Amino acid sequence: MSRETATDDATDPTSLALDAPAPQTPDDAEDGVWLGCIDCGETYSPFESVRYTCDCGGLLEVRYGEPSGFADFGPEGHSAATERGVWRYAAALPFDEGVSLPEGDTPLHRVPRLEDEVGVASLRIKHEGMNPTGSFKDRGMTVGVRAARELGVGRLACASTGNTSAALAAYGGRADMETLVLLPAGKVAAGKVAQAALHGARILEVDGNFDACLDIVQELAGRGEAYLLNSLNPFRLEGQKTIGFEILEAHLADYGTFPDRIVLPVGNAGNTAALYKAFRELVQADALEPEEVPALTGVQAADAAPMVEAIEDGADEIRRWEEVETIATAIRIGNPVNAPKALPGIRNTGGTAVAVADEEITAAQRDLAGEGVGVEPASAASVAGLRKLRDRGVVDDDERVVCLTTGHLLKDPDAAYEAGNDPEPVPNDADAVLEHLRE
Ligand code: F0G
Repeated sequence: MSRETATDDATDPTSLALDAPAPQTPDDAEDGVWLGCIDCGETYSPFESVRYTCDCGGLLEVRYGEPSGFADFGPEGHSAATERGVWRYAAALPFDEGVSLPEGDTPLHRVPRLEDEVGVASLRIKHEGMNPTGSFKDRGMTVGVRAARELGVGRLACASTGNTSAALAAYGGRADMETLVLLPAGKVAAGKVAQAALHGARILEVDGNFDACLDIVQELAGRGEAYLLNSLNPFRLEGQKTIGFEILEAHLADYGTFPDRIVLPVGNAGNTAALYKAFRELVQADALEPEEVPALTGVQAADAAPMVEAIEDGADEIRRWEEVETIATAIRIGNPVNAPKALPGIRNTGGTAVAVADEEITAAQRDLAGEGVGVEPASAASVAGLRKLRDRGVVDDDERVVCLTTGHLLKDPDAAYEAGNDPEPVPNDADAVLEHLRE
């Protein structure tokens, strides 16, 4: 597998190179934690004031003076820890504890039939739908809402294709904070709206797509009217790093080796950025060799695929797609704001990106469900993408692969109903039922 680091200067501690050295702690750090710009390297104190991006416009990330918290990384180290889930990795997070429900510790399912059919050395499914509100967003919110508390903000807000709003509503409720969610009208799956409503968020339905909702929330946040908890918020991505830690530890425990590849659905590219950051920090802490880092492989729906376009074109910047459509409404996104963090992640790990048709997503959703793993359409995109890359010979048959499924089947009951068997009406009588079954 070839590793391209040409675009990143590996001697620059603020670069996104996989093997960049740990940065020096600046004066404005608090307890060894600060915010650093991925473009110009400017640093900011994390809790003195609210800030999502650098003055230069670049994205910020949380940085640490001491990645040595990873010393006990591995199957033995953390299994002895008393904390479970996300907060088991507190050494790699900006706080010791968060607003927790709790989250993380999701299963790494075996799917022997799919593994056989796709034809790889091993295939495991990291099912993030098993988090408290049914998606990986909970991992980000436990840290993000804790940061909101630390900053003393009054009102929380996010734009969402659904899952972020469900998670923010639940964690905002837990923290007893006012919560606003902006949703693209008519384009959010029923289960997610129901969650946001019952957990007590105010739901604002916008006549526009997700990207338009995010534009508005960024503007509200910029005017100081709300604290933004989309994945532009660097604290959220810290929690999502723990998906990567859990995958590596569980895979090592089961196979004695790390996975060669992690395949995941891409919307705003926050998760891709978070996994890459997890691996960079492990490399910095000498807990992982650069060549052991799994190839990050992103999957988008064919009619919402700006990241795939950028990877295929070798572009450093994303072209915003104004019109996007897919059955996988969670990733119906045309302007992945975390692309500057995620593109180096895909490239520097030897990964790639691929687009899949809605029919391929539904087929993968059915196949996963057939092995007992119930996921929403966006999640199934990972398996559909793997299948396509195997067919194209991009993924080899000797690879050990983990597909990330990001949300639970019940999030989108309409899609499940459409993809599944139709109910059959039968008379209220056992003989008639048997007769029906014989037909
Ligand atoms: N899968 C699911 C189920 C999602 O809900 C999302 C994003 C993604 C994948 C993509 O993750 O943005 O980190 O690349 N959902 C956001 C939301 C946008 O509002 O719930 P990403």
